[in-house]
Amino acid sequence: MASAAAPGSGVARPLLEVTDLSVAFKGHKEIVTVVDHASFSLRAGETLGIVGESGSGKTVSSLALLGLLPASARVTGSATFDGRQLVNMPARKLRNVRGNDISIIFQEPMTSLDPSFTVGNQLAEAYRNHRGGSKRAATARAAEMLRLVGIPEPQRRLGEYPHNFSGGMRQRVMIAMSLICSPKLLIADEPTTALDVTIQSQILELLKSLQAELGMAMIFVTHDLGVVASVCDQVSVMYAGQVIEQSPIDDFFTRPLHPYSAGLLDSMPQSVAKGERLRMIAGTVPPPSRIPVGCRFNPRCQYAVEACVVTAPDLEATGDGREVRCIRHAELSLEISR
Ligand SMILES: Nc1ncnc2c1ncn2[C@@H]1O[C@H](COP(=O)(O)OP(=O)(O)OP(=O)(O)O)[C@@H](O)[C@H]1O
Ligand code: SF4
Ligand SMILES: [Mg+2]
Repeated sequence: MASAAAPGSGVARPLLEVTDLSVAFKGHKEIVTVVDHASFSLRAGETLGIVGESGSGKTVSSLALLGLLPASARVTGSATFDGRQLVNMPARKLRNVRGNDISIIFQEPMTSLDPSFTVGNQLAEAYRNHRGGSKRAATARAAEMLRLVGIPEPQRRLGEYPHNFSGGMRQRVMIAMSLICSPKLLIADEPTTALDVTIQSQILELLKSLQAELGMAMIFVTHDLGVVASVCDQVSVMYAGQVIEQSPIDDFFTRPLHPYSAGLLDSMPQSVAKGERLRMIAGTVPPPSRIPVGCRFNPRCQYAVEACVVTAPDLEATGDGREVRCIRHAELSLEISR
């Protein structure tokens, strides 16, 4: 795994270091905080999975890094990428970072592809917007990228429109588009959720092999812990706008530190015997306007004690490269056996 070393220190410094990132939206009556002091980091070439149930703040955190939130959002905290501060970076500079250094792909490629232009045209324009050069060179680069993402007959397919491609092929086109300027970091927000299972695993394999080939870092946003297990080196778990655990992947799957992480692992299909019903964490993620006092997970936590409804836990480093937000983490033993 490649990593940037801080000059003179010999210590690998993160490519992306997010500290206390908060996002609040101005509503009609009140300001609602939907991401609250989120912190996570990743090194060059590494993959970080961000997991959590719907509404936990995964997408908003990713969009905040890239300045893609609506004007009603107020973003605070720090996100240093390759030595540059992304939070509140001027729009023009951030556009430059977005095209050249960090790319994002979403769940539904049709929302990002323009139906009225050929795929070749869109790929070549994405390249020229950031790198300049001739149309001819950009078209050659577009064909090279289609080949790289496994689209047969790339030269011919450059002249086709997005609707001529199947869902899985469109996602490959989006991946080609996001990688055309060789970013150092790719953020993939549920990139396979809209696809059927076979295509999902093909796209995951493709992303894994491209990452190895191109040496880029990835943030993988997903509900699916199976995907995290197969693609990621580190995992950050989000709950109700907060990061509640960050761990290297092996430790996380064998010994989660937070009761919510343990609940997520326990509700994976692999955790139940054949014929047994899937287990679920009772209750739902509270909306940002109804966050409970104390630990945000306390209404759903089987380990909650009186202090949990009074004290809001901090994200605490455990000393072995892991972090957890639970006042009882040292006394709980949450081994997962499968
Ligand atoms: N533009 C917005 N204005 C106000 N609130 C928003 C806006 N965008 C998102 N939210 C709120 O922020 C919270 C986090 O949303 P987010 O989309 O980040 O969740 P998520 O973890 O990505 O969920 P999912 O798994 O469903 O994609 C939600 O409560 C959502 O309603
Ligand atoms: S702080 Fe308390 S309620 Fe929250 S996760 Fe830990 S034990 Fe459960
Ligand atoms: Mg989302």
